Amino acid sequence: MIIKLHKWLIFILLECTIPLLMATISEEEQRVIAPDSSEEEKVFDLTLRPKQLSEFVGQEQIKEPLSISIEAAKKREEPIEHVLLYGNPGLGKTTLAHIIAYEMGHGIKMTAGPALERVGDLAAILSNLQKGDVLFIDEIHRMNKTIEEVLYSAMEEYALDIIVGKGPAARTLRMPLEQFTLIGATTKMNLLSGPLRDRFGHIFHLNFYEPEEISKIVARNAKLLEVDIEPEAHHVIAKCSRRTPRVANRLLRRIRDYAEVKHDGIISIKVAEDALCMLSIDKSGLDEVDRKILHTIINNFAGGPVGLNTLSAAIAEEMETLESIYEPYLMQIGMIERTSRGRKATRMAYEHLGQEFKEQEALL
Ligand SMILES: Nc1ncnc2c1ncn2[C@@H]1O[C@H](COP(=O)(O)OP(=O)(O)O)[C@@H](O)[C@H]1O
Ligand SMILES: [Mg+2]
Repeated sequence: MIIKLHKWLIFILLECTIPLLMATISEEEQRVIAPDSSEEEKVFDLTLRPKQLSEFVGQEQIKEPLSISIEAAKKREEPIEHVLLYGNPGLGKTTLAHIIAYEMGHGIKMTAGPALERVGDLAAILSNLQKGDVLFIDEIHRMNKTIEEVLYSAMEEYALDIIVGKGPAARTLRMPLEQFTLIGATTKMNLLSGPLRDRFGHIFHLNFYEPEEISKIVARNAKLLEVDIEPEAHHVIAKCSRRTPRVANRLLRRIRDYAEVKHDGIISIKVAEDALCMLSIDKSGLDEVDRKILHTIINNFAGGPVGLNTLSAAIAEEMETLESIYEPYLMQIGMIERTSRGRKATRMAYEHLGQEFKEQEALL
């Protein structure tokens, strides 16, 4: 039996405690070039985060279709279709979600997959949305199945179907919702279920940035932070930023500190290079862990192929971290290759470490 009830009544029925839903993802110890953000950085991020689509550098493949959809939705006075953003950490998913809400002229509520533990958590957030608001769910692939299923009707019919009670006394309560836009962000598209993926009207993939785009971001942020930086130094920072804006922002901050303490505050090429050297970041943007990975594949496993499991044990890093943080960039710049039998170091990796490339080993 379906009973239509006012949303506030259900809200009380569900005895929802609104937990602190702002992303509660545990943070690991931070490397200087880790693409994940630290607490301290979130405040800093607020200053630098572009607010409008026109300030968002790069990702042209997303910006154009997105701006058309935003404009069309505004004309029709409807919310924009649900959006799924996927890409590596630090490439701008959260930033884009804020931009979409801003451009639509509506509010945004933020949560994360692991923070939604009970259906009541989701109901509490959804029932508080105004027409046109954006609900941003970060790490949407980490949401539990029950919540995911409840989300389906919310996305499709703007209603929540909630089962209350057990056995013969069970009732389905339908709670009507305002029309909203769900924006999901994920770093792992393959972990997202098909039915959830199909319910998004737009699916956008964020790519790694080109070095010139990162240079532009560094220049823009240096201006916002009133940092004195020579134009050529933008490129030095951009080259070491793993093609990731978050890393570029972090390096800019560290180099600014170095310039202020060790020099007169001006970031010249020399100051930027010295600071990067102090941070053990080389000219390709690799740090000690990256070099250890390459070194281990080459010297302990004769250049590979070596399985991810074995490699993670050998360098004492979690497999998950290795796979989602280190490997994508090393692969992106062509230092390692993924084969069916594991990871292999490329000629470029040998050259980077100043070691002789041994063809027969790499072919093993
Ligand atoms: N395209 C971009 N243009 C300018 N700055 C960007 C861009 N993308 C990301 N940033 C910067 O990088 C930081 C991290 O981006 P964020 O959206 O938090 O990444 P994600 O959510 O994908 O991990 C933001 O604070 C923002 O300042
Ligand atoms: Mg984010």
